[in-house]
Amino acid sequence: MSKVIVVTGTASGLGKATVEKFSAEGWDVVATVRKEADLKVHDGNPRVRTLLLDVDDEGAAAGFAEAALAAFGRVDALVNNAGSYQMGPLEASTMEQVHGQFQTNVFGLIAVTKAFLPTFRAQRSGVVVNISSLTAEQGYPYNAAYAASKAAVATLSEALSMELAEFGIVVRAIMPGQHATRIFTKIDAAAEVPEDYQAGIASFFGATPMTGSSPSVTADAVYRAVLDPAPEQVRVYTGPDSEAIPHAKRILGPQEYWREFREAAVGRPSALFRTLVPAPGSEPLQRDV
Ligand SMILES: NC(=O)c1ccc[n+]([C@@H]2O[C@H](COP(=O)([O-])OP(=O)(O)OC[C@H]3O[C@@H](n4cnc5c(N)ncnc54)[C@H](OP(=O)(O)O)[C@@H]3O)[C@@H](O)[C@H]2O)c1
Repeated sequence: MSKVIVVTGTASGLGKATVEKFSAEGWDVVATVRKEADLKVHDGNPRVRTLLLDVDDEGAAAGFAEAALAAFGRVDALVNNAGSYQMGPLEASTMEQVHGQFQTNVFGLIAVTKAFLPTFRAQRSGVVVNISSLTAEQGYPYNAAYAASKAAVATLSEALSMELAEFGIVVRAIMPGQHATRIFTKIDAAAEVPEDYQAGIASFFGATPMTGSSPSVTADAVYRAVLDPAPEQVRVYTGPDSEAIPHAKRILGPQEYWREFREAAVGRPSALFRTLVPAPGSEPLQRDV
């Protein structure tokens, strides 16, 4: 019997690539999309059943878990991938924007996870893969709410990995570096940004290429993370920029690292930093936009 995985937020990007990876490897997949117009996104792939889910609607999670179980009669793994991106100086981001960021990236993810845990606990097996971000390891400027939401996802994953080990449930946090996906075309940007911030924002975005790894880089890592039965490695770094940051922190030490990262973030990376931390998109560029 084929194994079954549930993946949220699969209309594009990392979620879509993850659906393609698992179905190509012989898994049955329950894929979610948020918009009715996207229900056809996996048409032609006989291993995929596509269901509607807006993770902001916490009340829908239990019914969704039931429908997901009914789709193929079992669920072996859950990938909490759905996410959105709020950007801009924190001072200029409204509390509504900050709450919205946490609603999708944290509270929605928690509601979906809670809906599947009774099944995983009863069957004494299951893998939960939460898509966090490199920004949980290193907060980038003008990304504070997003970074904080992804840090919540990473530490939540670490706590759950301890809490659920006795039930045979494995929990992982994937920490992707920058990937070229549609998330950057749907940014919930701060609207009224004080003039004082404009120069810093211009240098940051001047320094940050809007390129990145192919979504398949992270989809392949999610596949390996689900197959690995050992619970010990919770954080999994994907993409050259993500893999390099923890290493750079260790090599440089906190003070030198802070200064090097700060200079790099405003477009003045030292030769040393460039050697230690490859730019996102330093692999061959593949866009999904
Ligand atoms: N791209 C990167 O550089 C990067 C780096 C680190 C982490 N990540 C994380 O990777 C995950 C996937 O993002 P992506 O880059 O692949 O972007 P993407 O192509 O925009 O995919 C995000 C998916 O999540 C869905 N989604 C957003 N809000 C939702 C909600 N309230 N309920 C249900 N689904 C919702 C989107 O649906 P719609 O199509 O309807 O908007 C879309 O299908 C996110 O958690 C993101 O934070 C991305």
